[in-house]
Amino acid sequence: MHILITGASSGIGLITAEALLEAGHQVTVAARRYDRFANLQSMYGPEFLLAVKADLRVDTELDNLFHEAKSTFGPIDVLINNAGVSRGPGWHQDGRAMDVLQLNLMAAVRLSQLVLPDMLERKQGHIINIGSVAGHVPVSTLYSASKFGLRGFSLALRRELLGSGVHVSLVSPGFVETDMTSKRKVPKIPPGKVAELILRLLKRPKAEVIIPAYYKILIALERIFPGFGDFLVRRRQMLETS
Ligand SMILES: NC(=O)c1ccc[n+]([C@@H]2O[C@H](COP(=O)([O-])OP(=O)(O)OC[C@H]3O[C@@H](n4cnc5c(N)ncnc54)[C@H](OP(=O)(O)O)[C@@H]3O)[C@@H](O)[C@H]2O)c1
Repeated sequence: MHILITGASSGIGLITAEALLEAGHQVTVAARRYDRFANLQSMYGPEFLLAVKADLRVDTELDNLFHEAKSTFGPIDVLINNAGVSRGPGWHQDGRAMDVLQLNLMAAVRLSQLVLPDMLERKQGHIINIGSVAGHVPVSTLYSASKFGLRGFSLALRRELLGSGVHVSLVSPGFVETDMTSKRKVPKIPPGKVAELILRLLKRPKAEVIIPAYYKILIALERIFPGFGDFLVRRRQMLETS
């Protein structure tokens, strides 16, 4: 299969790209740090790997990525919208805050828009979106906005496409050990666990998978007792200021 994965220069994306190549797929990888693809390029060669340098906040670069991928390996069978960034508090004073929405949500929507015509014509295809538990539990304002948005997009698109032969899956991880969380002192799962899940989804698509599964308890608590989340946040704020 021809699989396009964004944000494959580190973390979940890189390890998933390796696993896909190892499984014998043709893979297009994209990110800004092109030099990070050197190892994959020397291991798998141009027959299996296309590496594209792209800033996915920019529409023309998204379009270019899609056209380069299609002209190299043919129509895309699977799109994995993985690229993402998070930002700390103070988004309203951060001039680059909108990058979070542009990359985490809008780039995924635009790439889906580009791959869908071929998928629908061929009556087959799979779009896998990498969301987050932050798409269930509001934690970081714009990051949660992007992941709630991506979750809504993914679940609704899946329904829109029921019966078309095109599948849509959402992966919602809790904390994963990557550059994104390097400063967080919390329990984390290795990114390989998410890669394994993505490979399983290729065989058996699912609407959404929360990984690790114990985050389902947190999500249920948030839904039933949202005030408890407020209490925890307030308590942390008071400890930080005391
Ligand atoms: N780590 C976690 O705990 C966690 C939890 C839940 C969900 N997630 C989600 O998992 C996905 C992967 O994140 P990760 O944890 O693997 O973090 P990561 O190691 O920081 O990877 C982020 C990837 O996104 C790419 N990226 C960032 N800005 C980009 C841009 N403007 N254009 C193109 N690519 C860009 C980065 O590549 P370049 O910098 O080279 O462009 C990198 O390859 C994200 O969607 C994230 O929200 C992560």
